[in-house]
Amino acid sequence: MRYRSLGRTGIQLSDIGYGAWGVGGKQWLGGSDEESLVALRRALDLGVNFIDTALAYGDGHSEELVGQVVRSAPGKVYVATKVPPKNRQWPARPGIGIDEVFPYDYVIGSTEESLRNLKLEAVDLQQFHVWNSEWTERDEWRRAFEDLKKSGKAHAVGVSLNAGQPDSGLDLVRTGLVDAVQVVYNIFDQSPEAKLFPLTREKNVGVLARVPLDEGALTGAITEETVFEKGEFRDWYFRGDRKRQVVEHVNALRRDLKGVEGTLAEIALRFCVSHPAVSTVIPGMRKVRNVESSCTVSDLGPLSPDVLAILKKHAWVKDFHS
Ligand SMILES: NC(=O)c1ccc[n+]([C@@H]2O[C@H](COP(=O)([O-])OP(=O)(O)OC[C@H]3O[C@@H](n4cnc5c(N)ncnc54)[C@H](OP(=O)(O)O)[C@@H]3O)[C@@H](O)[C@H]2O)c1
Repeated sequence: MRYRSLGRTGIQLSDIGYGAWGVGGKQWLGGSDEESLVALRRALDLGVNFIDTALAYGDGHSEELVGQVVRSAPGKVYVATKVPPKNRQWPARPGIGIDEVFPYDYVIGSTEESLRNLKLEAVDLQQFHVWNSEWTERDEWRRAFEDLKKSGKAHAVGVSLNAGQPDSGLDLVRTGLVDAVQVVYNIFDQSPEAKLFPLTREKNVGVLARVPLDEGALTGAITEETVFEKGEFRDWYFRGDRKRQVVEHVNALRRDLKGVEGTLAEIALRFCVSHPAVSTVIPGMRKVRNVESSCTVSDLGPLSPDVLAILKKHAWVKDFHS
């Protein structure tokens, strides 16, 4: 496993991190706590030292499982969590004030609730779960982040940017007040490369690359016949004729990638670690098999310029998150 700096925090993260949305259940069905705990522990055995969770994942259940594993881990494991929007609206919508979404007391209280779920004294990174660039000049989030750090409840702070809106974080990064941003980045959505990544590199702000497998589309496992359970997030994400569109794009990718070593999922993760702005990539994993496959990516390292040039052509502007 290779490690990279999380911006200027001094924290060294494994370049393959652990996305812990799925292990929370509720929005991701079909897993079990037993399977998730085995997968989490296997990831730590293989050198993963960073887990991204959120209070909203299974209403605290992901945090409970993550805390259980982290507290009994032999070495340091860095934990990031998130404050859900108080109005429970994902993504943040223009025109809605920060007082409805992240008022000061709510941010502090939500962090304390996460620490109770995790049974930890502090999180290594606290993040807002949504962001609206209209809030950049407001005082609430600045005070809340500053006080979380001063009180020792969070060692670093950041924001998870709305899907498809990487540029909504540009002014925020320019404030110099966040240590990290979390952003959708994968073979299909390469949009953070244009402006966000050059800026985070210039300002030495960490980047967590989320949804690296496009919710499973980039594993190649989704066919037109795939059926998700009713009520599961992916039943909504891949609704209508979206599965057909995914199959078309994945077939084109596979044709162009003939001869490149690794599964499609591994190549998709290597795409993310190939960008120097990325501090860590956080695939969601509930199965040991997937943990083992994802962790091999770190040692394989960045893709060659030739393969990256092929992948450049497979960027696909779509708006499945809304
Ligand atoms: N707004 C936000 O802040 C936000 C939104 C979405 C996600 N996130 C974060 O980003 C993380 C990643 O996103 P995600 O979990 O939604 O989707 P993802 O990582 O794009 O895809 C997860 C899917 O890929 C499968 N998978 C993982 N590794 C694999 C491998 N090596 N080979 C084949 N299949 C593999 C998983 O299977 P199994 O689960 O069956 O193992 C799961 O079905 C989340 O867990 C969460 O921490 C944050």
